[in-house]
Amino acid sequence: MNAILGIDVGASGIKGALVDLDSGRLYGERFRVPTPQPSTPQTMSEAFSEIVDFFNYEGVVGCGFPAIVKNGVALSAANIDHSWIGTSIEETFGKSGNTRVFATNDADAAGVAEMRYGVGKGEKGLVFLITIGTGLGTALFYKGMLVPNTELGHVLWKNGKSAELYCSSGARERLKISRKEWAGRFNEYLHHLERLFTPDLFVLGGGESKFFDSYKDQLTTNARVVPAKLLNNAGIIGAAAYAAEQG
Ligand code: BGC
Repeated sequence: MNAILGIDVGASGIKGALVDLDSGRLYGERFRVPTPQPSTPQTMSEAFSEIVDFFNYEGVVGCGFPAIVKNGVALSAANIDHSWIGTSIEETFGKSGNTRVFATNDADAAGVAEMRYGVGKGEKGLVFLITIGTGLGTALFYKGMLVPNTELGHVLWKNGKSAELYCSSGARERLKISRKEWAGRFNEYLHHLERLFTPDLFVLGGGESKFFDSYKDQLTTNARVVPAKLLNNAGIIGAAAYAAEQG
């Protein structure tokens, strides 16, 4: 079996699992630790090592990370400690020993997994995967090819702030609005992206995708909208797939 450890670093939790890259399925259980606060490189690398140790793993590790990631370095920090900006994720997480870490943006990782193993399989047009969690992550594909680091959760919204502050899951919780009101806001956001990109398909991932049935009727774009098939595991699976390609 072709198994690689995938770790999805999020603003609230860090989750890892061994991924069977032939089938795109998790191999065995998933292990999660809460994201430490403050989420500095030092504290997060300890949490990351806890996951590697749990699996008693050595070798190539894939890491999905909630920031712009270029050449393994974080270039933004919307929902994590700002000291990450300019820090090498790959060196920070890889320094503890017997691993070689390859890092990519978390939404890009989730998107790659959905395109390869999930609902995006065979989709040739323009596809957006949007992860709805503490932030809003976006991954854009055309003819199956990823355009990395699109960061469209940060399109400027009505008040000049990032859209994710208006309609992410984090925003719903912080503003204490109902899921119905949130879905109305999220629908506005989808329409905005549709005006800019005319996609064929929106795939919704992240924690909020579990409740898709309760709000799908409020989403009215011309483009189809479907929940991610791999749900919250897409980030782990895509991170492992990314590492396998680099290693
Ligand atoms: C970050 C993105 C990330 C998304 C989801 C946003 O705030 O800027 O890089 O993909 O949150 O975690």
